[in-house]
Amino acid sequence: MKFTLVSSSIALLVTALAVEAAPGGKILSVPLQTNGNYKPSIKASLAKVAAKYSKHKINPLLNVPGGLASTEGTGSVPVIDYEIDIEYYGTVSIGTPAQNFKIDFDTGSSDLWVASTLCSTCTTHTRYDSTKSSTYVADGRTWSIAYGDGSTASGILATDTVTLGGLAIKSQTIELAKKESSSFASDPIDGLLGLGFNTITTVSGIKTPVDNLISQGLITSPVFGVYLGKASKNGGGEYLFGGSDSTKYTGTLKTVPVNKSQGYWGVTVSSLKVGTTSVGTSFSGILDTGTTLLIFTETIAKKVAAAYGATDNGDGTFIISCDSSNFKPLVFTMNGSTFNVPADSIIFEQDGSTCFASFAYSSGMSLSILGDVFLKNNYVIFNQQVPSVQIAPSIDQ
Ligand SMILES: *[C@@H]1O[C@H](CO)[C@@H](O)[C@H](O)[C@H]1NC(C)=O
Ligand SMILES: *[C@@H]1O[C@H](CO)[C@@H](O)[C@H](O)[C@H]1NC(C)=O
Repeated sequence: MKFTLVSSSIALLVTALAVEAAPGGKILSVPLQTNGNYKPSIKASLAKVAAKYSKHKINPLLNVPGGLASTEGTGSVPVIDYEIDIEYYGTVSIGTPAQNFKIDFDTGSSDLWVASTLCSTCTTHTRYDSTKSSTYVADGRTWSIAYGDGSTASGILATDTVTLGGLAIKSQTIELAKKESSSFASDPIDGLLGLGFNTITTVSGIKTPVDNLISQGLITSPVFGVYLGKASKNGGGEYLFGGSDSTKYTGTLKTVPVNKSQGYWGVTVSSLKVGTTSVGTSFSGILDTGTTLLIFTETIAKKVAAAYGATDNGDGTFIISCDSSNFKPLVFTMNGSTFNVPADSIIFEQDGSTCFASFAYSSGMSLSILGDVFLKNNYVIFNQQVPSVQIAPSIDQ
C-alpha cells in the first residue's frame, strides 16, 4: 500500500492521507492540511529529485543491471534510501536487451508497473520502450491503480522478461503506464514492484514477480529478506530474493504468523507499549515497505502521542520534542516476542527547532501500518508459502 510521504519538504503535511480500508478494499481519503509550522528542510529540497519514498544517495551497485546475483537460487537487489528514509528503491531490468528502471519495492501492493513511452508526460522518468525489446509480448488489457497516499497510475498490460537481482523471470506480466499522477513526476522512481499476495493485483489472475520466481524455480526458498537502512547510519538497504542476509540482523529470528486474507502481510500486534506503559492491545497491522511512517488508528496514535508528550497537528501528524534522550522505545509484541522501535526513530524528521513524530493516524482507518519506521529497525524475512514472517533486530537498530 504505497502510503508514503511525497518528499519530506512538502509532503509530510500536505499530502492526502488515505488508505485502502480493511474490508472490501474501499479507499478512505483524509486530506491533510498544510501545516504552517512545517518548514521545508534544506537538505530535502536540495535532494529533491523525487516524490514519494527514499533518500538521495549514490549507490554504485545500482549501475549493475538488475542488481547483483549472489549465490545460486538467490538474487540481491541493493536499494537507495531516498532523502531521510522516505522511500527505498532499487534497479529492476525489463526487456531484451535490458532496460533499467528505478523501482520501489512495496510489500503493501501487488502490481508491477513502470513508466513507458506510451506516457507522454512521464518525461522525468526512464520509460520502458516495447519497440526496443525482443521479448516483449502485447496483452491489450488495461490496468489502473490507486494507492493509499492518493497517487494513481494506469495503462496497458504486456509481458516481458524481468530481471531482479540477476534472476531473469520469463513472461512476467508488467503494467505499462500511459498515465501517472503528478506526485510521481517529482518522485525518483520509474515504477513500483508489489510484493503483496496475488489476490490484490488490480487485474485479477496475474502472477506477481515472487510467484514467478517460485514457479520458474529461480529461487530455492519461497522467501525474501528485507533490510532497509537508516540515513543516520549508512542508508542503503537490500532485498534478497530466495534467502536472507544474516549480516543485516542481530539476535534471534522470531516467527510471527501472517494473515493474508486481505492480500497484505497482515500481523496481529497483541500489545503495544511505550517503555512499560501500555498504549494498545490486540490490533491488526500490515508490514508495508511502501509506507514511510507508522500509521495507527486514531485512538492508539493519541495514546502513543500522550506517552511521548507529542502534540496533535490535527491532520494525522504530531509534533514531538527534539530531545529524544528520555524517550522510551516503542515495543510491539507479536506471537509472544517483542520488537522495538528505539528512541532515535520516534522522531521522524527535525526541521529547525521543530520535530515531527514518526507515527501518525488516518481517521476512520481500522488497520495499522508498520511502515519503514518499523522495518528500518527490524530485519524481516517474508515467507509467502507458509505464510509467515521472521523478524530480528536490524544491525541499524
Ligand atoms: C509463534 O512463536 C512460537 C515460539 O516462539 C513458534 O514456535 C511458533 O511457530 C510461532 N507461531 C507461528 C504460527 O508462527
Ligand atoms: C484474518 O483476517 C480476516 C480479516 O481481517 C479475519 O476475518 C480472520 O479471522 C483472520 N484470520 C485469522 C486466522 O486470524
